[in-house]
Amino acid sequence: MHVVVLAAGQGKRMRSALPKVLQPLAGRPLLGHVLATARSLGAQKLCVVYGHGGEQVRAALDAPDLAWALQAEQLGTGHAVAQALPHLPESGPVLILYGDVPLTRRETLAELVVAAGEEGFALLTVDMADPSGYGRIVRDGEHRVVRIVEHKDASEAERTIREVNTGIICCQAQHLRGWLGKIRNDNAQGEYYLPDIIAMAVADGIEVKTSRPLAVWETLGVNDKAQLAELERLHQRNQAQALLVAGVTLIDPARIDIRGTLETGRDVEIDVNCVFEGRVALGDGVKIGANCVLKDVTVAAGAVIHPFSHLDGAEVGAKSLIGPFARLRPGTKLAEDVHIGNFTEVKNSTIAAHSKANHLAYVGDADVGSKVNIGAGTITCNYDGANKFRTVIEDEVFIGSDTQLVAPVRVGKGATLGAGTTLTKDAPAGDLTLSRAKQLTVPGWKRPVKITK
Ligand code: UD1
Ligand code: CA
Repeated sequence: MHVVVLAAGQGKRMRSALPKVLQPLAGRPLLGHVLATARSLGAQKLCVVYGHGGEQVRAALDAPDLAWALQAEQLGTGHAVAQALPHLPESGPVLILYGDVPLTRRETLAELVVAAGEEGFALLTVDMADPSGYGRIVRDGEHRVVRIVEHKDASEAERTIREVNTGIICCQAQHLRGWLGKIRNDNAQGEYYLPDIIAMAVADGIEVKTSRPLAVWETLGVNDKAQLAELERLHQRNQAQALLVAGVTLIDPARIDIRGTLETGRDVEIDVNCVFEGRVALGDGVKIGANCVLKDVTVAAGAVIHPFSHLDGAEVGAKSLIGPFARLRPGTKLAEDVHIGNFTEVKNSTIAAHSKANHLAYVGDADVGSKVNIGAGTITCNYDGANKFRTVIEDEVFIGSDTQLVAPVRVGKGATLGAGTTLTKDAPAGDLTLSRAKQLTVPGWKRPVKITK
């Protein structure tokens, strides 16, 4: 099967420098959703009809299975599909989709393709409570589709029809070639209407079948930011629903955003206002507190992410405790039962089992062993302004508060660093190392008093 995606519309009503089909829904361009669905149907080739200034679209989404057809002037949907003809095979099914209709379910399209069969024609229609603006499906006395009439061209009687054209059709390439050449633009909008091919199919003795989506939202397009926001909510609600069905506890299904994929084990709990981006996997029994953002993260079984934590490109080991107010940056790998507390940042570091950095620390470019305690205010000085260096902290090290580890530096197994140490040389295993001015008391010292005039 081949797919044609119409995406030449300018999208002026978006009032944005970003082309309409690149506007993100759930963090992915509208057109990206359509292409992903088409690919999931096993489409051999996808042809995107793009418009003036669409180079940005091409640059953003180009892939080996895509062909691009420029429609320099937008003369109508029929004209748009005609631009794709050079990329279509001689014969065989062609599915026509729209770059600004992102939420059509794969199953709905698969049914449509089956309805069209090897030789036929099928059209996706819906009943609208308010059908104004849409093309109406005109049927004969035996309920057979005979043609589509656009709202602007429709008679009063035709405008009462509530079954409308979604625009999504599946027909055969060999038929399409002939019909597209015959479309004229003598209509209310002076456009070449793709839906005119329906009457042509009927004239050629081809039965036009119809199929329906499960819900109208599957066929809704996006023309402005209000509609974009509406579809975003719909999509998020659907994803939340799927999580609930899978057994996830969502404290409020209206307050979760998934911009990518979220895999969940059993008995996962997610509190309100969490955002999941990219690929996130949560193991059995994981709890995510309120207001967390997780991007490209795996969290192993039993771990708890406390509120207001931000995790990006990190692996969290089983039963670890993160946050509140923790930040895990790319390259963070935490083994099991690691505790990262408030205002602690970890970047490009591995931390072995049972280690803790519970308060106000920065662990960057470090390899931390197991059962290590990193005191409050401790930082790795991993950057000299030009290069980054690693810090190695072996097992069972205790680091007193407010310590700076100036990398490259190594702290041997079981070593203790006294509070306030600036470590510039390796600390030997087992010993106490500290750098600290001696404490001094000045007996009888008096505070200054205010001079009276
Ligand atoms: C179209 C259908 C209408 C249907 C409705 C569903 C036609 C003539 N009418 O109307 O029957 O009920 O969709 O939403 O097809 N496009 C191009 N190039 C063009 C014109 C359009 O790429 O020259 C693209 C647009 O970017 C858009 C899609 O085709 O994604 C539909 O175009 P639009 O102008 O919105 O069609 P409607 O008037 O809404
Ligand atoms: Ca439209």
